[in-house]
Amino acid sequence: MKLIQDVQEMQQTVLGLKRQGKRIAFVPTMGFLHEGHASLLREGRKRGDVLVLSIFVNPTQFGINEDLDNYPRNLEGDCALAEACGVDLVFAPTAAGMYPPGFQTTVALGPLTKPLCGASRPGHFNGVAVVVTKLFNIVQPDCALFGNKDFQQLAIIRQMTIDLNLPVEIIGMQIVREPDGLAMSSRNSYLTPEQRQQSLCLSKAIQKVRELFNNGEISVDRLLGEARMIITAVPESSIDYLELRHSTTLQPVETAAADTLFALAVKIGSTRLIDNTVLGGDL
Ligand code: PAJ
Repeated sequence: MKLIQDVQEMQQTVLGLKRQGKRIAFVPTMGFLHEGHASLLREGRKRGDVLVLSIFVNPTQFGINEDLDNYPRNLEGDCALAEACGVDLVFAPTAAGMYPPGFQTTVALGPLTKPLCGASRPGHFNGVAVVVTKLFNIVQPDCALFGNKDFQQLAIIRQMTIDLNLPVEIIGMQIVREPDGLAMSSRNSYLTPEQRQQSLCLSKAIQKVRELFNNGEISVDRLLGEARMIITAVPESSIDYLELRHSTTLQPVETAAADTLFALAVKIGSTRLIDNTVLGGDL
């Protein structure tokens, strides 16, 4: 496994590999890797001759009052996990390398960015779209793997890839959870032991909504009401959003159906956690 930090060196390296006819599989991340990331890497390993992992805490997708400076980092641990998952190249650029002086270009996104996380994190998806476009152009992958954990991010990247004819196959992967149900996230490391216990309200709300839907409940108010009760019962919780939306368009729904997305963002103390499920799909 090779670690590359320089943007040009990365681009030249993959260009050489592609000339040899190698198929490149790519997993973009912000590091502090966990089993969720590992599941993408293992699938990527099967799909490419060369597996590339990027680790870059992208400053442009963080708001001014967000956790950019505190975002957990552990390059050494990440490289150990990457090697165990069969990664060939780790690309870990610097912010200055990605955004040199004079950088000014953005990608204009559409309605998919408006609701959910887009409403509570203005500019976030713009930062994501720009960095993913840059990473695609640097790494030139044949396929790239993303988690359903960030459902809206994946929807926006899929749409951007279609709209801009990016020659990359986008592969969505299931949410990996802790044994007790908490969706794995680098941000879980912020939680105190008490908050870690309280964080289970997200996956409990998801289970409850799925269970009610499977028993025939389709009222948006009743489904969200039950979820809200579970979350507000937790002392340190504050709801950012709790919504049922169409899983492809992300538009509001009048009643729940098998293709309805239940998505939520909840702060436990000062840590913002997200989770989601498509009602008719697997957990
Ligand atoms: P990051 O939060 O590090 O996540 C990297 C990838 O891992 C994303 O596609 C995310 O959906 C996936 N992932 C995270 N937790 C997961 C889990 N529990 N189960 C399955 N997949 C999971 O998402 C980003 O980084 C950034 O926005 C990025 C796309 C790299 C752009 O900067």
